[in-house]
Amino acid sequence: MKFFVDTANLTEIKEALELGILDGVTTNPSLMAKEGITGEDNVRAHYKAICELVEGDISAEVIATDFNEMIKEGKALADIHENIVVKVPMTVDGIKAIRWFSDHDIRTNCTLVFSAGQAILAAKAGATYLSPFIGRIDDMTWDGVELIAQIADIYTIQGFQTEILAASIRNPLHIVRAAEAGADVCTCPLSAILGLAKHPLTDIGLAKFLEDHKKANS
Ligand code: E4P
Repeated sequence: MKFFVDTANLTEIKEALELGILDGVTTNPSLMAKEGITGEDNVRAHYKAICELVEGDISAEVIATDFNEMIKEGKALADIHENIVVKVPMTVDGIKAIRWFSDHDIRTNCTLVFSAGQAILAAKAGATYLSPFIGRIDDMTWDGVELIAQIADIYTIQGFQTEILAASIRNPLHIVRAAEAGADVCTCPLSAILGLAKHPLTDIGLAKFLEDHKKANS
């Protein structure tokens, strides 16, 4: 399973990179706004900076909702760097755009996916990645990870090549369960990735090893 970090914050991206397990980055308009990145030139420069930091796929989302505008915006984003993956929302125009990008060798990440039906449509259109939002489904008291498992089954049965990118990850358990359910990629906040390393028995065990070593060597 690949690990992407879900942020537009360069410090967090660097920290994730230093772990040596990072395969890519996802952003969205909310994450870009959170970093105060506004205006076409600044947005392009920021994506370029991320691409220069991380050797891996970098998802950059279109703001347009109309097919023609999505194509224009997506082409401009894809021109920034070869590792840019154009993130397109799951709408009727979005599906048409994913087909267009696929036919023109531009890779896509279909975002805002909440059902198996949407997942089938995106795969048929040729999406490179599919982003089911598991945390937001959990927020509605449904089980987001169950959707990942359902999509993974469908994609295997049908032989779809689209990679399942578990998104809207909120905690380390989401990562473990998404991995178990067959996600190809998890895009996570840095805190959730770091949370995977934590266990109180590791801390207690390490403290005891160090104490015993100190006693024996004093
Ligand atoms: C990433 O591709 C998604 O945009 C992101 O994971 C959404 O996360 P959220 O539901 O926590 O905003």
